Amino acid sequence: MPTVLEAAPPSAKGLEGVVANQSSICYVFGEEGRLIYRGYDIHDLAEHSTFEETAYLLLRGDLPTRDQLAVFLTELKAAQKLPKVVQRVIKDAPLTAHPMNVLRTAVSASVFADADHGDESAAAEYRKAVRLIAQLPTMVAMFHRLRNGQRPLAPRRGLSLAANFLYMISGAVPDAEAAKALDVALILHADHELNASTFAARVIAATLADMHGAVTGALGALAGPLHGGANTEVMKMLLEIGSPDRAEAWVREGLARKRKIMGFGHRVYRTEDPRAAHLRRMAEHLGRKAGQPQWFAIQRIIEDVMRREKGLCCNVDFYSASMYYVMGIPLDLYTPIFAISRVSGWCAHVLEQHADNRLIRPRAEYVGPMNRSWTSLGRRR
Ligand code: ACO
Repeated sequence: MPTVLEAAPPSAKGLEGVVANQSSICYVFGEEGRLIYRGYDIHDLAEHSTFEETAYLLLRGDLPTRDQLAVFLTELKAAQKLPKVVQRVIKDAPLTAHPMNVLRTAVSASVFADADHGDESAAAEYRKAVRLIAQLPTMVAMFHRLRNGQRPLAPRRGLSLAANFLYMISGAVPDAEAAKALDVALILHADHELNASTFAARVIAATLADMHGAVTGALGALAGPLHGGANTEVMKMLLEIGSPDRAEAWVREGLARKRKIMGFGHRVYRTEDPRAAHLRRMAEHLGRKAGQPQWFAIQRIIEDVMRREKGLCCNVDFYSASMYYVMGIPLDLYTPIFAISRVSGWCAHVLEQHADNRLIRPRAEYVGPMNRSWTSLGRRR
């Protein structure tokens, strides 16, 4: 008889290096610092694509033709308005709630009004995915306006998803540069292989739970500061540091105290995250344009210190933080913006999981006590 420990090989803590499934959606080349969606390099997509086109690519596997894109945009526009039940849930949320908690609850509630609820066919799941991609920005913006005592705005015709989001939170149609910057950020965040939230979505989907359940679970995973929540933490750090002359000492002290410096490190990349280069460039440009170059200056110093002291590069959450800040976006909307983009990846993974499903059920390496004798309640100490 094997003992429990012999029966299972030692676990990789945090599943590091474990290949959990096959996928044709996205791949991270950790050593080279390369990222592809459906075979396309992220640099090409960031330079030439739009978020809508990228979302279609993730869901369908190929870039859309002109006609296919027109249909997709029409489907998205038709689904942007929130069902009444979702509006009620958002209106009932405490004004002090974290927008990620409101978003997660609103997404969960949106199943009540979903026209395809109960139909798990690929065609129905695709329609659910389109509705979720269309509605997440409206959900976030609605809550944001309500908590500011403002009237929520209906989606505006003729705007991209990124521009429309900026319009719905601020009430002003953004200039082309701001809309383009957010659009590129959404492209860069749209998928990232088996990151924690996507894995959570696939685990849920693999029980044959539906799209809304998987996306709700993924939102829960994304919110954590080790994952999508890091972008907000980065900006809090920059505000605390305040000026470039304090940056080096602040980071050195943090490292001496064994603190994690937010926006650095990655489970897979061993070199620079390819998404960071685009965000660095946009953060510098928009910071200068907004008359707030200090955040970028602080970040360059932090980046140098982290590379020298720890050999660590920044990740996607580092420069997105100051970019959103100088665009006037409140700190607690950074992670919801991540979600507005990543929902396209989550939905693509749920579709892929359901197309060739097997329950995801790993084993634990048992390290607890064995062979204990039963003690009755009165004799326990
Ligand atoms: N600051 C300081 N030290 C760090 C950092 C950091 N940001 N990241 C890793 N390290 C150090 C750890 O202290 C550890 O050192 P040790 O071996 O001396 O104890 C070593 O590097 C390995 O770190 P782990 O946390 O074990 O690495 P893991 O692969 O488990 O974690 C993670 C990756 C969670 C991203 C980690 O680097 C981290 O916590 N970063 C800060 C949070 C962050 O930016 N998250 C966003 C990630 S990207 C995304 O999810 C969108």
